[in-house]
Amino acid sequence: MKRQMKIGLLGYGVVGKGVVDIVDAHCPDLEVKYVLVRRPREELGEKAVTDFNIMLNDPEVDIIVEAMGGLSPAYEYVHAALEAGKNVVSSNKQLISYYYDELAGLAMEKKVALRCTAAVGGGIPWLTAIERGRRGNRIIGISGIMNGTTNYILDAMYTNGSDFDAVLKKAQELGYAEADPSSDIDGLDIQRKCVISSNVAFGVSIPEEQVPVFGIRNIKACDIDAAKRLGKICKMMAIARQTKDNKITAYVEPVFLPGESLEASVHDAFNLITLEGEYSGVQSFFGQGAGRYPTAYNVVEDCADLLHGIDDFYTDVIEPKSVDNAEELHPYYIRGLRSPETVKALKVINCGEGFISKPISVVEAHTIAESQAGEELFMAGILED
Ligand code: HSE
Repeated sequence: MKRQMKIGLLGYGVVGKGVVDIVDAHCPDLEVKYVLVRRPREELGEKAVTDFNIMLNDPEVDIIVEAMGGLSPAYEYVHAALEAGKNVVSSNKQLISYYYDELAGLAMEKKVALRCTAAVGGGIPWLTAIERGRRGNRIIGISGIMNGTTNYILDAMYTNGSDFDAVLKKAQELGYAEADPSSDIDGLDIQRKCVISSNVAFGVSIPEEQVPVFGIRNIKACDIDAAKRLGKICKMMAIARQTKDNKITAYVEPVFLPGESLEASVHDAFNLITLEGEYSGVQSFFGQGAGRYPTAYNVVEDCADLLHGIDDFYTDVIEPKSVDNAEELHPYYIRGLRSPETVKALKVINCGEGFISKPISVVEAHTIAESQAGEELFMAGILED
């Protein structure tokens, strides 16, 4: 075990400040030597720097922690750090999902660590669970609630009949939502988490844009009531599977789940993520999926893992794969479908202001939703378990 490691921290927002607080309070073996900031921060004293090259060129800095979010300049900094042979810990799902092959490949080439456990599931050690779970086990599927903000909104709408806009504002105040909360409510944040989880779990690399996403922007009280009417609850889910013939299914959408399912009891900004392995069977991981300290905690855990000798990425298998959702079928609840012919072709029964469809493929459902993008359509997959 290395005695002490020094950190160069990029970003001093919700997560970055949490990292400094935890390291200062609990980690004598770690030291935040520099914090890259845009404007002076008195409380950081001499740690605050405005030039990234200071930490890049300091041989004492072992780990660059990236907690800036966004693609640029996070990408340029992380790339330069790996290129220079420094370990990188990031909480940035957008960066890791988009540049997965390149950054994981570069870390392997340079034989340094690239860890991003906080990028999926906030404080839950989910990626490290997958890393362990894929040794001596074939992971067949991953699924779950991977976004704190949307769970917070859906839970408040279901439990207290809260208004969507008011509860989104509260989620922003609590530091759960992204800077641009449309990433949360339109499902892009979950799409990125689904890509990273699938890639690590299945040893593949799937393009982000092939994972179809439908969010909760259009959800109304009548949709929550429709789920209740069916004895179900609406949750925002990511679902991915590796079939026996090695096809990858992956999608993100609201779903109506049985009221007695594990996910139904997930409240507030908590996440619950499940993997199914050939030998392990089903394992679910529950915890705080967003917020300063849970997320910063996972960043610090990654740094502590480096102290204990971790020096790689979660997998060394990166096989480029396409997503194939053509054979993934289930019924949908749909409200606001404009075409009477399509309604007639799909409808099995009415349900409140919408209807329940016959089982259709994820491809068909998301194609219908796309054809009415910008309109009031809402849909949710109906899952039995
Ligand atoms: N906005 C994200 C969420 C933060 O609500 O889950 C954690 O990734």
